[in-house]
Amino acid sequence: MIRLFHVYKSFGSKNPALIDISLTVPKGEFVFVTGPSGAGKTTLLKIIFCAEKPTSGHALVDGRNLTRIKDGELSSLRRRIGVVFQDFKLLPRRTVFENVALSLEVMGVPPSRIRKKVHQTLRYLGLADKEGYYPPQLSGGEQQRIAIARAIVNNPLILLADEPTGNLDYDLTMEIMALLKEIHTRGTTVVVATHSQELLKGTRRRIIALHKGRMV
Ligand SMILES: Nc1ncnc2c1ncn2[C@@H]1O[C@H](COP(=O)(O)OP(=O)(O)OP(=O)(O)O)[C@@H](O)[C@H]1O
Ligand SMILES: [Mg+2]
Repeated sequence: MIRLFHVYKSFGSKNPALIDISLTVPKGEFVFVTGPSGAGKTTLLKIIFCAEKPTSGHALVDGRNLTRIKDGELSSLRRRIGVVFQDFKLLPRRTVFENVALSLEVMGVPPSRIRKKVHQTLRYLGLADKEGYYPPQLSGGEQQRIAIARAIVNNPLILLADEPTGNLDYDLTMEIMALLKEIHTRGTTVVVATHSQELLKGTRRRIIALHKGRMV
């Protein structure tokens, strides 16, 4: 499902962001990526989403080699990957409904189907009553759940979540984690990047630990 072979990523500065990363995440796994700030977690997720290309090495996602992929194939692959990224914020001037609907609209899904999918997803996340709100009118935890709704509305094969519980308190963190677990049990491969040791405490899932760009 996700395979990296000797991936290096350099942004031109002295120390590469990723050094010789080889790993396999089978379809349906739930895996954590951890490590201190600057370790390369976000870069690793961006490589998988093909938002960054490896400087060398190969990345395969759902059988496609991302170093050689054509633009058309890339957009269809990306549609099957849901992302919750630190720098991919909700649009503040669009309602919750519009934020979640956007990815379906760009895919050309008919409006009636969009309405159905968005309502279904918001209901699933317990946010049905918020569809007309604007993101600044929501709490941090609610915004985070909307970001997850946006990522899963088209039933992705893979969900990439970068610090999904970043600024949330303990209860909300547990709530978001329970949600990610539930999405996982529906068959989605889930990759969660976090520097939080709290989140990893007691987990039986695989943990990929990075330090200064290397897997340790
Ligand atoms: N677009 C970029 N241009 C230049 N350097 C970058 C870029 N993106 C990341 N880096 C560098 O790559 C290294 C890894 O960054 P990355 O964002 O992957 O770390 P991280 O583990 O996600 O950290 P954090 O926990 O703080 O989010 C850092 O040294 C960072 O400065
Ligand atoms: Mg990061």
